[in-house]
Amino acid sequence: MLIDNFGRTVDYLRISITDRCNLRCNYCIPKGFKGFEPPDHWISTEEILRVVYNFSVLGTYYFRLTGGEPLLRKDIVELVRKMKAIDQVKDLSMTTNATLLADKAEPLFEAGLNRLNISLDSLNSKHIEEITGSNCLDNIISGLSAAKKAGFQKVRINMVVMPDRNFDEVEEMLRFCIQQQYILCLIEVMPIGESGRNTASIYLQETVKKLEKRFNLQPTTKKIGNGPARYWETENGFVNLGLITPLSQHFCATCNRVRLTVDGTLLMCLGQDNSFQLKPLLRNQCSDEELQKAILQAIKLKPQSHDFLEQPKRINRIMSMTGG
Ligand code: GTP
Ligand code: 5AD
Ligand code: SF4
Repeated sequence: MLIDNFGRTVDYLRISITDRCNLRCNYCIPKGFKGFEPPDHWISTEEILRVVYNFSVLGTYYFRLTGGEPLLRKDIVELVRKMKAIDQVKDLSMTTNATLLADKAEPLFEAGLNRLNISLDSLNSKHIEEITGSNCLDNIISGLSAAKKAGFQKVRINMVVMPDRNFDEVEEMLRFCIQQQYILCLIEVMPIGESGRNTASIYLQETVKKLEKRFNLQPTTKKIGNGPARYWETENGFVNLGLITPLSQHFCATCNRVRLTVDGTLLMCLGQDNSFQLKPLLRNQCSDEELQKAILQAIKLKPQSHDFLEQPKRINRIMSMTGG
């Protein structure tokens, strides 16, 4: 079991398998950004699998593939299959923008991927183009349909809510999700990297109160995934709203995750720089015991909380490198 210095159990590893993306969401990657990791810095599929195996031996059962856009990685289906072949990998999920999902949903489901969270901030193609820099709404919708057809249950839509862009579309999105049986998760913009810092944020507690009334929703303690979202359900027990509030009500006291970046760094917190380099060990053919010792050592570096509110300008790392 991995327990940090504040008594929190870490049982969730998020892996950013590429920092690149085919979109440029305005809160994530700055326009014209050129600072991506060069390919010779990336850790290989075999190295990712070694890290996953050794985390699982230490009691981590939840894994998420993220990015950047994880579907840009060519060996993605193979990676999923090999991760699921590790006994202790209980829950393997992915966060994707779904633009490339139409062809991949079925092979991913067959390879054993358990859950999908899909980024979608609007149902208006002009707004999507403004937010992502790409005319991609139709591709995303095709990806969503393919996910459902392939057999994925409880697909979650992540909507980053921005006061000046899509705030007034929240209701329409919730209606769409209820109708299509997706879960809608509303997320507050975090001031990470230049783009996150330059995007206006809004506190979502009041918005949810309104949605509760209008859609007759009740808070639920049903467990969906292993993340920081709180959930609401309808009278018939279908969970259809989630809320992630890193700013207005942070959840650091129950934080259960660390992140592995594409260059083999373990990041101990989304909003802090504490980190541990695993790549030198992996490249030096370290033993599993040495890797586990390093992971145990790294967990002790996990800070108590982020300080987005006190020092919003501090984190320069962009979200796609961090792993969403
Ligand atoms: P589930 O396992 O389905 O609960 O997923 P998740 O919410 O952990 O994963 P997802 O990639 O969908 O995360 C959605 C967003 O939640 C991220 O892009 C972040 O904006 C936010 N988030 C996830 N984990 C953390 C965290 O540890 N700290 C903070 N502040 N925000 C987080
Ligand atoms: N604030 C909050 N969430 C962000 N994401 C990217 N940048 C930010 C940010 N600045 C998240 C979104 C998206 C996922 C891939 O990354 O939730 O769905
Ligand atoms: Fe790409 Fe996701 Fe970042 Fe948008 S939020 S640019 S889809 S990694």
